[in-house]
Amino acid sequence: MNGLKGCRNDFQILSEKMDEALPIYFDNACMTLKPESVLNEICDYYHHYPACGGRSYHKFGKIVDQKINESRAAIAKLINGSRDEIIFTKNCTESLNLLCRSIKFSSNSIVLTTDKEHNSNFIIWRILEQEGVIKEHIYTNADNIIETIENLYKKDKKLSVVSLCWVSNLDGTFISDYEIININKRLKQLFPDAILILDAAQAVMHRPVDVKKVEADFIAFSIHKMMGPTGLGVLWGKKSNLEKLSPFILGGGTVERLDNNYMPVYLEIPERFEAGLQHYAGICGAKAAAEYTVKLNPDEISDYETELNRYATEKIKTLDSIEILGPPEPEKRSGILAFYFRKPVIKHNDDELDIDEKLSIRKNIMIRKGKFCVYSWCSIHEDYFFEIMPGFDPVFYRASFAAYNTKHEIDQFIDELENIVDELSDLPDFPK
Ligand SMILES: Cc1ncc(COP(=O)(O)O)c(C=O)c1O
Repeated sequence: MNGLKGCRNDFQILSEKMDEALPIYFDNACMTLKPESVLNEICDYYHHYPACGGRSYHKFGKIVDQKINESRAAIAKLINGSRDEIIFTKNCTESLNLLCRSIKFSSNSIVLTTDKEHNSNFIIWRILEQEGVIKEHIYTNADNIIETIENLYKKDKKLSVVSLCWVSNLDGTFISDYEIININKRLKQLFPDAILILDAAQAVMHRPVDVKKVEADFIAFSIHKMMGPTGLGVLWGKKSNLEKLSPFILGGGTVERLDNNYMPVYLEIPERFEAGLQHYAGICGAKAAAEYTVKLNPDEISDYETELNRYATEKIKTLDSIEILGPPEPEKRSGILAFYFRKPVIKHNDDELDIDEKLSIRKNIMIRKGKFCVYSWCSIHEDYFFEIMPGFDPVFYRASFAAYNTKHEIDQFIDELENIVDELSDLPDFPK
């Protein structure tokens, strides 16, 4: 552990050449790399105590129990929650699904999201409409959210859930702590029983997350996006809120016994929500990831990622035919630089390489292409995209930065992007 400046050395993979060059990994919004301390914890589990937690009282089992406790405590420390409010899931998606399926809705109650949600915080609520719930979405903006809450109140509607993406994986825009607090205050004044959920998949690690400060009811996130192992997520909820949920997945590890009618008597929280054998190696690695993140300091991570984004933004602005997605100011886009081409860039056959493939094959530069699972934004704003890319299904590219990235890597990325832009010079621009 070398502090933020030297943290690159904690990621051995960044010093291992592939085809003569070092990897440049800018797909961090999807999944981050893992430091050696996380890999060691995972290996230790398999080497030294590869058993089950919560049920086996032999020596291996007791070590696993202790590791699970330590992991919950480390994650709780990172977000300023309590150990027994940390529920392990498979990923942020499962955490949100758990909420969606465990909250008791009455018909005609409303779930409000923004127009820029990841599919995992959009589709789930939409599907609930089949069960009488009404799903509404609004243009992302804190004032707008408060105004919508007030309008629903005036119209005597039942608002049950407001579920918001804290930091967008599409363009890095975010709702500030101050805005979240104001939204929550107004929500609770007008709808005392309503629940505020934050999709914190792109927030945890990238910025300070203090659940006591923002006072949300639940937050959901993925450990693999915060330097931890894949296939592990977290649902945090205030104890009083968790108590109101009925477990979503049932089975071993969730019940203390069956009553006289063979009905389950649940274990305490959090275990009642963690059915079946768990991803113990991942849980061990999560402890190391949370401790590592605390040491790096999310405040400093946030500043550094914004600085990288500022640097990259200045450089990309000099390239012809490229437009940044979202606000031009990097300070409003966290560590995410998403962009598109003002040209009909399209693969005509499998032998052609798309831009992300060219970057990867030629220079080991790894970015992301697509709609990043934010189909809501693209569908809701179809007209806008039709105007800027007439007749073209919108495709975006995304470089997302993490604490171990450097300006030197950005230089190499922009240099290669410039070469690609030159190669595209024969393609006509979309009309302005
Ligand atoms: C904002 C946001 N929410 C939710 C998710 C879903 O995360 P996961 O696929 O790890 O469940 C992602 C993944 O990219 C995301 O960026």
